[in-house]
Amino acid sequence: MTTLLTGEESNIQAAAELLRRGELVAFPTETVYGIGAPIFFPASISKIFEVKNRPKDNPLIAHIGSLEQVAMIAENVSDQFYQLAEKFFPGPLTIILSKSESVPKVASAGLSTIGVRMPRHPIALNLIQKLGMPIAAPSANRSGSPSSTKAEHVLEDFGGKIAAILDGGTCEYGLESTVLLLEPQPVILRPGSITKEELEESLHLPVVFATEQNPEVPLSPGTKHKHYAPQAKVLLAFSEDELARIILNSTATKRVIHSCIQSNELYEKLREADREAIEEIIFICDEAVKEDAALMNRLTHAASIWE
Ligand code: TXA
Ligand code: MG
Repeated sequence: MTTLLTGEESNIQAAAELLRRGELVAFPTETVYGIGAPIFFPASISKIFEVKNRPKDNPLIAHIGSLEQVAMIAENVSDQFYQLAEKFFPGPLTIILSKSESVPKVASAGLSTIGVRMPRHPIALNLIQKLGMPIAAPSANRSGSPSSTKAEHVLEDFGGKIAAILDGGTCEYGLESTVLLLEPQPVILRPGSITKEELEESLHLPVVFATEQNPEVPLSPGTKHKHYAPQAKVLLAFSEDELARIILNSTATKRVIHSCIQSNELYEKLREADREAIEEIIFICDEAVKEDAALMNRLTHAASIWE
């Protein structure tokens, strides 16, 4: 049985206790819901991979509750990290650091690095602080599917499979954090709501996006796996003409068309389409959508398996 818990102190305390006993607990963050286990509990972390059906080569992010906790999991932490942490923590930014020996290999998928992020959601922060150590947590969705932005989404995917879900309502941003590599040069491995420009301004350095077209910069292990995709076919239309062409060539009988999609409604729209057995979802991408690197990245991933 999976218990839904509201965000009261006593429930957060109970959730921390469940984690200490080796159970999995999902919790809200300002980006998406996470499904967590204490970073130093390899058996619990393995369970996360199992329930998500997550490829073993895709590392997890360590969620910290204070800057002091960085020393528990990372080594040779640069000034650049602290510079960014001062500006963006707590918030939707994950920074890749060298991991310390103490972090189990299963959490980092065998890599020598660990992604570190301090979530801003009060329930997440409180939970990590009560536990007294970082929480390893991927997004709370079945691997490959859209992430969860509401407690109901987590229940949809993991009902009966995890001990509890802390319900913090709808996530503020609705897309996962920006993932940033600092060494040897700043590279955005996954775009999020903290933008390239904001990072450049803070670092006083150029920041580049990791793309398959740019072999000079490394890709995040997660990028090679299917991502953010619903059962329904996702298509993107960049003009009225393209929309007309798509519809003309389609045989779908159950279709939805979304224009002016906002970041924090994307995953709900994808999940809603599957609940209603929609065959085809068309997103009209106007200028605002095109300029949003994080939103375009998720839309492109959701559509890419149909190309
Ligand atoms: O907003 C978020 O980041 C959410 C919430 C729950 O915090 N978490 C999240 O975790 O999106 P996940 O596991 O779904 O995505 C983590 C991404 C993956 O693409 C993974 O490959 C990459 O970050 N990543 C994690 N650790 C890494 C590392 N050491 N080096 C390179 N990429 C890493
Ligand atoms: Mg994910």
